Amino acid sequence: MQRIYAHSWLPKDIEIELKKRFHLKSHDANKQILSEKLFCIEAKGVNGIIAQGNQVSDDFISQNKGSLKIIANVGVGYDNIDIKSANKHSILVTNTPGVVDMAVADMAMGLILSIARRIPEGDVFTKRGGYQGNPFPLLWGADLAGEKIGIIGMGRIGKELARRAKAFNLNIVYFNRKKLNSEEENKYCITWNNLNELLKSSKFVVILCPLNEDSFNLISSNELEMMRNDSFIINIARGKILNEKALVDALISKKIAGAALDVFENEPYFDKRLAKMTNVILTPHAGSATLSTRPSMIRLAASNILAYFSGGKVPNLINKDFN
Ligand code: 8YV
Repeated sequence: MQRIYAHSWLPKDIEIELKKRFHLKSHDANKQILSEKLFCIEAKGVNGIIAQGNQVSDDFISQNKGSLKIIANVGVGYDNIDIKSANKHSILVTNTPGVVDMAVADMAMGLILSIARRIPEGDVFTKRGGYQGNPFPLLWGADLAGEKIGIIGMGRIGKELARRAKAFNLNIVYFNRKKLNSEEENKYCITWNNLNELLKSSKFVVILCPLNEDSFNLISSNELEMMRNDSFIINIARGKILNEKALVDALISKKIAGAALDVFENEPYFDKRLAKMTNVILTPHAGSATLSTRPSMIRLAASNILAYFSGGKVPNLINKDFN
């Protein structure tokens, strides 16, 4: 029997199915993500991994190159997996595209509305007994209609966000390494901008691109400096795309009006000064956290493992050459 290590919470039915086919060892990553060292010990010598939220490093891959065949990541982003190392040792890597699109786009729109209309501030104010009558100038926020939103990364989630932004009468520009064809641009009512143009003109800048060598610290002090003083930055992609120190400085100096962050440079840690700012909203990497989406992600990851060991076509292969 092949050995599978699931560093993940598992729905009962998936656990049962995997146990029928494999020798399964698992760690519920909901409780605590295993340190890299512990993960290396726990998952030593396995044939397949379901990885949720943990780093799968070159060290781990090299140590297990004889046995390890497939790493099924629970997430559409796979920057936690050392792909170069997996490629080098011909180990398959899969992700979970498609199933997260709606949930993450909803959350992005929710963060935009929350930061613009100061919803968390209003919540705290009301619960603390601040609502004593209805003073007219209370909690005025930013308008959406007629404003410009700049989406960095126009993949599937970006397109879903564009559909939502359109419904709020936002004008949409986007930056993507690859410009979409005009048919798609018309469909989503989006216009390509270079990054600087997008940053200079947008009221809402939303980061939605994958983390890779090109996007690491894509937004740092120079880029924040270009942004409008009344603009907001929303990061729902990966923390390392936005330099956290530069962001804190930009917020302190009022270079930008606010930020909504679902991801951080060194999760689960973040610069504690952010927690003290009323014009900052923080959420715990919860973009895909819906009742249907998270279980769907696990199912998809498990189906990649099952497909591989049944000799079938692996549906969500990232390193395509190995199929
Ligand atoms: C996951 C994500 O929760 O899909 C992604 O890329 O960031 C999230 O949906 C994360 O990968 C943890 O597994």
